[in-house]
Amino acid sequence: MTSATAAPPVLRLAGVSHTYSGQRRRTAVLKDIDYAFERGTFYTILGPSGSGKTTLLSLASGLDTPTKGTITFEGQDLTELGLGRYRNQHAATIFQQYNLLTYLTALQNVTCAMEITGTKPTTGSRKARALHLLEKIGLDKAMATRNVLQLSGGQQQRVAIARALACDVDILFADEPTGNLDEDTAAGIIGTFRELAHEQDKCVVVVSHSQQLAAQSDRVLTLRKGKLTEQVNAR
Ligand SMILES: Nc1ncnc2c1ncn2[C@@H]1O[C@H](COP(=O)(O)OP(=O)(O)OP(=O)(O)O)[C@@H](O)[C@H]1O
Ligand SMILES: [Mg+2]
Repeated sequence: MTSATAAPPVLRLAGVSHTYSGQRRRTAVLKDIDYAFERGTFYTILGPSGSGKTTLLSLASGLDTPTKGTITFEGQDLTELGLGRYRNQHAATIFQQYNLLTYLTALQNVTCAMEITGTKPTTGSRKARALHLLEKIGLDKAMATRNVLQLSGGQQQRVAIARALACDVDILFADEPTGNLDEDTAAGIIGTFRELAHEQDKCVVVVSHSQQLAAQSDRVLTLRKGKLTEQVNAR
């Protein structure tokens, strides 16, 4: 008999299907997906363009609800927990299109997210923590205090990453987070994801086309024809 005391996985998808309904046609994107994501693990999800990776992240991050099936956080249904509460306290997302607040500076984008989620740094102010995170990711104070529209695409992507890292959540989702970054910056960010999973016991789920990123993650999942399959990285 299996142990009754084993903790539920941090995130579980059970029988998850998702279909987009247009005026004339329906697109079945995800088909009956079952998967359990664990803490302390860094996952990469690969798959061709249009295979449903962003759709899967939007369901797992509580932005949308599946047309069929259930998603649970530590055993509790997301709809029961409240999607807003889940997004606020337990899951942070780095979006494919960044979704920064364009009327704010880089620094304000990060501190604003900390205020909304009620994240208080263990030492120092929110501003100091935000500046530290931005600096760590390669944006100095002069850049941090510029309006985000005055930053390059790669710099905006780094603001989106710093914003997600600033909120102390259990699960971090990222959609193509290294797409616009040079190799060195990308390597630094992959290192940060590994550290979050392995040293802070977070669950990190990254969608990417990058084999470099997949090679450094613990588990590689592939989404194809609506199905999710797994290979474990041999090391
Ligand atoms: N809001 C929507 N309404 C209708 N169809 C949609 C919607 N969003 C996505 N789709 C369709 O669902 C499918 C999966 O899209 P999705 O954005 O999840 O793919 P993806 O794997 O993230 O692709 P990419 O690698 O290009 O980012 C595509 O066929 C897309 O056209
Ligand atoms: Mg996508």
